[in-house]
Amino acid sequence: MANSSANNRFVLNVSSVAVLLLLMLFEGIGGGGAVRLERWDSGIKMSTQREEGEEDGEGVGTTWAVLVAGSSGFGNYRHQADVCHAYQLLRKGGLKEENIVVFMYDDIAYSEFNPKPGVIINHPQGPDVYAGVPKDYTGKHVTANNLYAVLLGDKNAVQGGSGKVIDSKPNDRIFLYYSDHGGPGVLGMPNMPFLYAVDFIEVLKKKHAAGTYKEMVIYVEACESGSIFEGMMPEDLNIYVTTASNAEESSFGTYCPGMEPSPSPEFLTCLGDLYSVAWMEDSETHNLKKETLRQQYHNVKDRTSNYNTYFVGSHVMEYGNRSIKTEKLYLYQGFDPANENLNQNTLHPHMEVVNQRDADLLFLWQRYKKSEDGSKKKEAFKRIAETVMHRTHIDGSVELIGNILFGTERSASILSAVRPSGLPLVDDWGCLKAMVRLFEYHCGSLTQYGMRHMRAFANICNSGISEDAMEAACRAACSGPLSAVWSPFTRGYSA
Ligand SMILES: *[C@@H]1O[C@H](CO)[C@@H](O)[C@H](O)[C@H]1NC(C)=O
Repeated sequence: MANSSANNRFVLNVSSVAVLLLLMLFEGIGGGGAVRLERWDSGIKMSTQREEGEEDGEGVGTTWAVLVAGSSGFGNYRHQADVCHAYQLLRKGGLKEENIVVFMYDDIAYSEFNPKPGVIINHPQGPDVYAGVPKDYTGKHVTANNLYAVLLGDKNAVQGGSGKVIDSKPNDRIFLYYSDHGGPGVLGMPNMPFLYAVDFIEVLKKKHAAGTYKEMVIYVEACESGSIFEGMMPEDLNIYVTTASNAEESSFGTYCPGMEPSPSPEFLTCLGDLYSVAWMEDSETHNLKKETLRQQYHNVKDRTSNYNTYFVGSHVMEYGNRSIKTEKLYLYQGFDPANENLNQNTLHPHMEVVNQRDADLLFLWQRYKKSEDGSKKKEAFKRIAETVMHRTHIDGSVELIGNILFGTERSASILSAVRPSGLPLVDDWGCLKAMVRLFEYHCGSLTQYGMRHMRAFANICNSGISEDAMEAACRAACSGPLSAVWSPFTRGYSA
């Protein structure tokens, strides 16, 4: 008798500890409410099934998120749509607005081209994802420097915007998601300069040294996004990274006009990106208290490669500390009770996609096709002609500079050489930036399209070409007058 009543008392104590833990957990994740408590308590009673994050008995820290759409313009609709969608997903998962920092140019919802003013969608039949998204850093405040300051929690270094920063504590987790154009070693920003891998990784090291997070997960959608981390990302920062593509391939836009599934005909632009919709739609169809980062990585990898055919699509890559993969997704993306019983690894239809770099042409072409004869049609045609001309000019200039520096025989193979995996794009990032500036001074802005030539500039550095030699080559290749449209004096330098 005495024994059994002691046991009962013990059981009671254990369950009140469990409730206390639960309450702390809800405080941390930000949700709360009796409904969730009921849904949860069956699992929490068994000590063998305790979730990660509780093991040290200090409760789970706060989950923070940084969401970045690095482009502007209606032709790039999809990047801001991805980021708004991610925001809604995290909020449904119970993250608090005060813990999510959003970077988006915010020129989409009320663009003259938006057939649904004030609404942004990320799937042809999808709901509005724009309502409620906080305008932390918009317009000219979407910059690489502000992103660094936000990540470091450095309020004083932030310029403009809401001033919200990642004020994280040692026990907290951080989820960073970036969707944009990229090129070897760089990610785009709507305001110059680009984000350079070397600066970004330096910020991550600094954040780690400050001891202000437990673990971080980074998802990046961009062309050549693997090159940001390849040979650069240490394994001892408690950060796990996946990227849409490897260091030398494009990533892809999807849900574009004329594709299956297609947005309604009045949309002239792509609504999403392949890797991005793959992770978000995966999160929305699984119980994130059960699904691990590893499972999501494999699901997203399958879908982004069109089920390993790579017929279209790209190689999803992972970097950093891979032990973190065994953790459950809810620690980074929260948990939406509505998805508790979902576990749908249904095969998605073969996805039709467009190369990120051609998506803006696709938009201009749709604009041209759909406009009535007259000034709008002429304007659209002019934009297409300008864009194509600029591309030809940039490609031609880089080729010519290569020929001048290395001779026509060797140039192409030197400029396009890919270093073995495990090596960074370039050894001297300062040299890369200097070469980019020299090029832009003489030949005009690279723009989001010209980012693809970053590997050529990196290889010019890796070959030991001096800045003087580069300057002479640029001068020779681009001696004509520079159109003001593409001048770095108007646009700013991308390095
Ligand atoms: C990777 O993460 C695990 C789990 O947090 C940790 O135990 C391990 O020490 C980390 N590895 C490195 C190299 O930092």
